Amino acid sequence: KRHLISAADLSRDDALLILDTADELAKISERSIKKLPTLRGRTVVNLFFEDSTRTRISFEAAAKRLSADVINFSAKGSSVSKGESLKDTALTLEAMGADAVVIRHGASGAPHRLAGWVRGSVVNAGDGTHEHPTQALLDAFTMRRRLGPLDGRKVTIVGDVLHSRVARSNVLLLNTLGAEVTLVAPPTLLPVTVDSWPCEVSYDLDSVLPKSDVVMMLRVQRERMNAAFFPTEREYSRRYGLDRDRVAKMHDEAIVMHPGPMNRGMEIAAEVADSPRSTIVEQVANGVTTRMAVLYLLLGGADLGGEIQ
Ligand code: CP
Repeated sequence: KRHLISAADLSRDDALLILDTADELAKISERSIKKLPTLRGRTVVNLFFEDSTRTRISFEAAAKRLSADVINFSAKGSSVSKGESLKDTALTLEAMGADAVVIRHGASGAPHRLAGWVRGSVVNAGDGTHEHPTQALLDAFTMRRRLGPLDGRKVTIVGDVLHSRVARSNVLLLNTLGAEVTLVAPPTLLPVTVDSWPCEVSYDLDSVLPKSDVVMMLRVQRERMNAAFFPTEREYSRRYGLDRDRVAKMHDEAIVMHPGPMNRGMEIAAEVADSPRSTIVEQVANGVTTRMAVLYLLLGGADLGGEIQ
């Protein structure tokens, strides 16, 4: 495949190949090999029209660890502020020789449009409320490392599903990998199309927690929200927040995830976010490894075994 736009584009074999490649890369890095020459001479452009901490930095780290050249483009401070279009921005970057363009954009569908304009590979790093496929891959990688194969595992995704590209990509990928997903959210924070998603829906977090292997909390995205639709913070936390009492209902091996950034004290209590069950910091570290695997496979890097001998 040339692009990674949606988790729906990945077959089970594609997804397992990415996760297995990430495992191999993690083993290489555990042997204190920090950098591989496999993408030497290739150029990766990070094209960010929306703010990001984890995704932008981890794609940069991933490309550099594979010895690619990296160009970081942030819409703030660029000619986008003078009205330059996405297409003209993309063609300008392509003229500078991009083999892969990693794009985050506020408009759902922007990576798909971009893929029609550039010759290189396009990787969706989050588009509007649509998808964030590499987040779903790093989440699956993290779950697999903690729990083993995902077939039959019960994953509960809680909170602002309506605005969450992370939730959509996770539901699609986890379904492909054989996990059983339940969404828990206030009715006003579920998309109207949710009935067609391959998952269950519940409004009662407390009844779902005891049978969950994974509880993934979502950020309440107030910046994408009409204030009139939002319950009070206290009411939201009381019904949908993950605190110590709720964690006590989970089984001993179950894990707590959050893609970040977190609203500590709102969807997740600080003591839960910092507890041994939490994989939040692991998710960030695994993000680098997983994105290395994606870039490596899309750009057809040299054989990993051969590279390190
Ligand atoms: N999880 C995630 O996408 O975080 P950033 O917005 O910081 O990249």
